[in-house]
Amino acid sequence: MTKKETFYITTPIYYPSGRLHIGHTYTTVAADAIARFKRFCGYDVRFLTGTDEHGEKIQKKAQEAGMKEIDFLDEQIAEIKKLWEKLEISNDDFIRTTEKRHTDAIQKIFTKLYEQGDIYKGSYEGNYCVPCESFWTESQMLEGNRCPDCGRETKIVKEESYFFKLSKYEDRIRDLFESGHFVAPESRKNEMIKNFLDPGLEDLSVTRTSFDWGVKVPFDEKHVIYVWVDALCNYITALGYMSDDETLYQKYWPANVQLVAKEIVRFHTIIWPALLMALDIPVPKMVFGHGWILFADDKMSKSKGNIVYPGPMIERYGVDALKYFLLREFSFGQDGSYTHRNFVNRINFDLANDLGNLVSRTVSMVEKYNDGILVKNDAKTEFDDSLIDLYKEVRVDFEKQMNELMYHEALESIWKFVRRTNKYIDETMPWALAKDDANKDVLNKVLYNLCESIRLAATLFSSLLPTTAMEIFDQLGIKGKDELYSWKSCDTFGLIPDGTKVHKGKVLFPRLDVESEIKELENLFAEKIVDQEKPLEHKAEITIDDFDKVELRVGKVVKCEPHPKADRLLVSQIKIGSEMRQIVSGIAQWYKPEDMVGKEVIVVCNLKPVKLRGVESQGMILAAGDDGDDLIIPQATGAKDGAEVR
Ligand code: ME8
Ligand code: MG
Repeated sequence: MTKKETFYITTPIYYPSGRLHIGHTYTTVAADAIARFKRFCGYDVRFLTGTDEHGEKIQKKAQEAGMKEIDFLDEQIAEIKKLWEKLEISNDDFIRTTEKRHTDAIQKIFTKLYEQGDIYKGSYEGNYCVPCESFWTESQMLEGNRCPDCGRETKIVKEESYFFKLSKYEDRIRDLFESGHFVAPESRKNEMIKNFLDPGLEDLSVTRTSFDWGVKVPFDEKHVIYVWVDALCNYITALGYMSDDETLYQKYWPANVQLVAKEIVRFHTIIWPALLMALDIPVPKMVFGHGWILFADDKMSKSKGNIVYPGPMIERYGVDALKYFLLREFSFGQDGSYTHRNFVNRINFDLANDLGNLVSRTVSMVEKYNDGILVKNDAKTEFDDSLIDLYKEVRVDFEKQMNELMYHEALESIWKFVRRTNKYIDETMPWALAKDDANKDVLNKVLYNLCESIRLAATLFSSLLPTTAMEIFDQLGIKGKDELYSWKSCDTFGLIPDGTKVHKGKVLFPRLDVESEIKELENLFAEKIVDQEKPLEHKAEITIDDFDKVELRVGKVVKCEPHPKADRLLVSQIKIGSEMRQIVSGIAQWYKPEDMVGKEVIVVCNLKPVKLRGVESQGMILAAGDDGDDLIIPQATGAKDGAEVR
């Protein structure tokens, strides 16, 4: 027997600092689908997920909850594991970065890199964003020293620090980007080259001394290892890298696919391969950066109350309705908007109508016209060939699309066949055939072809919608006969044995009343989750004269465009009375250029102009951000542009 080819797939390890929403679920569901598909195709699959438990952010959350870090984490992790169980996620391992198997290996990795000179001691002063756990340079930050990723104010951190020689790997990383498909999709690769490689890589500060919730540097214990170095290495520590038993590591590394969303592609395609190069081990074959699920054009966020959680969805609609929606609605790789209406429509049209109806009509007809017994005979209708030909096409497309992680296309291919099969019912009209006994053979063959089409469709989607597929095999009377829904079985039309008995089961997906269901969903997720109120940190007191130095005016945005070089920035042209100003703001994550036009914003007019990534900014737009994921631009609606704000 030849050895099975291995396939290693990972998700990001999630921050256990609150309930996971359908954005997080998205990555895990997608990873699960490919893991199941590869197993189905005969690969020896390893599928890893887990949690990222160190760092100042987690420590603060635990403190806010008034708990010891590890107790806080244990509660969070229990919830996360429960969620993955509910979603029938087939991960082979779950790594927590607080586990000894991980922390031991991280210390060894750090020591090795230090001893060979890839990590050295220095000192660091820089602007640090606590929620993002990232240092930023002057040129990267937004006005007001705000983080270019989240828009929140950074703080100056001054400390002795160890550095990783990231700059040393710049050329090799560039080569890696240019050879093959390390970063996918292509658009992400170009972003990374433009935003990070072209400006040049600087050495990376990889320890902190300002807090202690992290893995300690073994030879200098007042330092904890930077949480991203700690976190990224989970993908190899989980395989036992640098432990007494490296069997799994030897077997599965390098990973075939590492799935992440776009905001952490930078860490996974620059820092991560550089660390691996320093360790002298292979880099992953592919890092795939998918897009974001947006909610009404906004990134989902807790404090806006626009967050959708998977738990209530699964309870109300079933696990496969959510999986189908996530994988079918959004094109993997691009951003997509979640709306309740789209969700309800997908269930109604694709699942209840196209698929559910096909199965229930077919099984009912077999029961009605032939006591539930399938007959395999040589009769033929003029519509059979086109049905079977389409299936063959779909079978080939589906495999290709799955291997390219184009889930939405893969599902659409199957649904093309499902809809074709429904049409076959209209074409052959079994109810008309049933009127005349002379047509009995043709009728039986039509019913057989229908069941066979359903078997094949369900077999193809069994890695994506396993529960539904199994329910269908049950109704077709083939449940337990694995060879009838194996990967190999997809190559043959006509495998269901003569004499198989079908039986009607439950309705797969009940049809929903669109308007009342949308109301239902609105109620389910209406609850605005208010974060625990924290004491405010005030700045030094100022006098009215100090305040009077700031010139605030109403400005009307007349034009707004993306910044040519920075994805997070927008460039607005603002009319302020008789003047026009150009202002660059770090708001692209929250506002689209077209949403900005027409807004009456408040502008700090006498701020010294600066260039942000090469574009001049003459002032600043006021924005209200909190500690969540939010940013809101307050408006002086109705006020005249140019008017002073006091
Ligand atoms: O970043 N749309 O963890 P995290 C799509 N611990 N995907 C989304 C999403 C959305 N709206 N929101 C979250 C971290 N995700 C680090 C990772 S890895 C070594 C360390 C998904 O809990 C997406 O996969 O913030 C994103 O990359 C991930 O959740 C971030 O999860
Ligand atoms: Mg995040």
